[in-house]
Amino acid sequence: MLDIADIQTIEHDVIIIGAGGAGLRAAIECSKRGLSTGLVCKSLLGKAHTVMAEGGVAAALGNVDNRDHWKVHFRDTMRGGKFLNAWRMAELHAKQAPDRVRELEEWGAVFDRTNKGLINQRNFGGHRYPRLAHVGDRTGLEIIRTLQDYGVHQGIEIYMECTGLDLIKDGDKISGMVAMWRDSGQFIIFKTGAVIMATGGGGKAWKVTSNSWEYTGDGHAMAYEAGAELIDMEFTQFHPTGMVWPPSVHGTLVTEGVRGEGGILLNSEGRRFMFDNIPKRFASETADTEEEAGRWLAGDKNARRPPELLTRDVVARAIRKEVKAGRGSPHGGAFLDIANQRSEEDIKKKLPSMYHQFKVLAELDITKDVMEVGPTLHYMMGGIRVDADTQMSRIPGLFACGECSGGMHGANRLGGNSLSDLLVFGKLAGEGVSDYIKKLNQKPQIDEDQIKFIIRNATVILNRESGENPYLLHEKLVENMQNSVGIVRTEELLSKGITKLEDLKLSYKNIKASGASQYNPGWHEALALRNLIITAESVAKSALMREESRGAHTRVDFPGEKDDWLEYNVVISKNEIGEMQTNKVPREKPDKELQRIANLSMESLENEIFSEK
Ligand code: FUM
Repeated sequence: MLDIADIQTIEHDVIIIGAGGAGLRAAIECSKRGLSTGLVCKSLLGKAHTVMAEGGVAAALGNVDNRDHWKVHFRDTMRGGKFLNAWRMAELHAKQAPDRVRELEEWGAVFDRTNKGLINQRNFGGHRYPRLAHVGDRTGLEIIRTLQDYGVHQGIEIYMECTGLDLIKDGDKISGMVAMWRDSGQFIIFKTGAVIMATGGGGKAWKVTSNSWEYTGDGHAMAYEAGAELIDMEFTQFHPTGMVWPPSVHGTLVTEGVRGEGGILLNSEGRRFMFDNIPKRFASETADTEEEAGRWLAGDKNARRPPELLTRDVVARAIRKEVKAGRGSPHGGAFLDIANQRSEEDIKKKLPSMYHQFKVLAELDITKDVMEVGPTLHYMMGGIRVDADTQMSRIPGLFACGECSGGMHGANRLGGNSLSDLLVFGKLAGEGVSDYIKKLNQKPQIDEDQIKFIIRNATVILNRESGENPYLLHEKLVENMQNSVGIVRTEELLSKGITKLEDLKLSYKNIKASGASQYNPGWHEALALRNLIITAESVAKSALMREESRGAHTRVDFPGEKDDWLEYNVVISKNEIGEMQTNKVPREKPDKELQRIANLSMESLENEIFSEK
């Protein structure tokens, strides 16, 4: 008989799951506000996808172009997200990002400098002005380092190599989580009044991804199982430039910073094909003047803003198009050339990691040769539906921030907005939890039956006599998602994909990991697979429901944006009989002032900002 009293039990005011940038920033805030804070991560502290945001953190500091302002950042973000972003989140993000970056600097982050000694900022796709504060091409790494160094002095308890399994509730409120030590296989119960999910995305459901092994949609799935909603799951970002060769590193990120530093994309005919792929509406919205828009569309190579810095959805589709048309690189991508655009010294100084990455992994010197690159699943715009100001989901006590939460980026995220997102909303989640805990008049209780249920669900995977191999099921999942729920989608492909997911769900019921509970990667793989399948199903079903093409969601059977779809989010939840339900939910009406800012012409907005200064 399973006796709960035998299981290690630890109590905190708040448990944060995931120790990337969002989790660390949230933990710092909780701790500063006097909460006993536990930070649980299934990997090692600092081993997070945050480091894959290499090229910079977006914030309207205005250090390189003093015309920059939160209103312009907000406008760019809404336009990049094809106006589907949660308005209030985009507002909070644009307003608060500069303070979060300056705060990081106070905590020890060493940003690159302008020659006036200010934090340097570079261009990135969809950002009107050079806006990305950066540390060469290692910005995410420096942010993690800073948060870690600062955070460890805040009295946060850290539980590394500890996998969250499922949440426990007292009535409708969060009361804890059951987790497992990855080395010993022993279970652990966390008693807590609040949980913040900061688990990142679920890129490991696709075959070609920049995500590493940790990104299995754990937060999405745990929140869904606990009754939270998932929003905008159809919007999955394929970063245009991942490595395509050699096969062992297919998908590894090549930072947008390469294009930000002047890198250009070429097809096998040596043509700068991005000039053929500038959406007309986009040209007049994005270029500084109508004249520049015209020069862009006419393919003028000297136009100030290179078309390689169009938003990621546009660039990824353009590369795919070249490959499909037989004009790709030898290994199925496009050529990215920085060697002929910048000096060797500049490249080594501004892009040291890229230089090293290609030297070591592909035996290629990017100061002399062109790179081969192609789209790689990088980020999920969708996630746990939360309140913008507090980051709380519809489950009292369950919060989410960073990539695993949804709404902020709408249909497409601008590069660099993930690092600022995790700083801004990590802090807000900490504030939200602190307010929530203060108002809790009774400590929620943990329910032994729920704990036993979670533990039995985990151990049955080991205890079955025989069953399905978790690694093979994962292979089937990634094949299916890559082929059916990729950059370009149709009803037929998505329906096939969903049918295959149903088969996978049936197979999963009989999953078997051999061996004992200690040091058992097969078991960990099987546990993660549940979360991957839930995440994958939510993406596929949402993608089938949204009958239009918007941002990163391209339906060739429904080309173009449809005005009526702009009024809705697709929201996923679990119904009473345990099935995944997909709903078309009307969006809240936008604040009039925000709508006005987003719709202003650039000229009018610049005049307005100038007269305010
Ligand atoms: O390309 C990059 O450096 C990635 C940045 C991001 O995803 O924000």
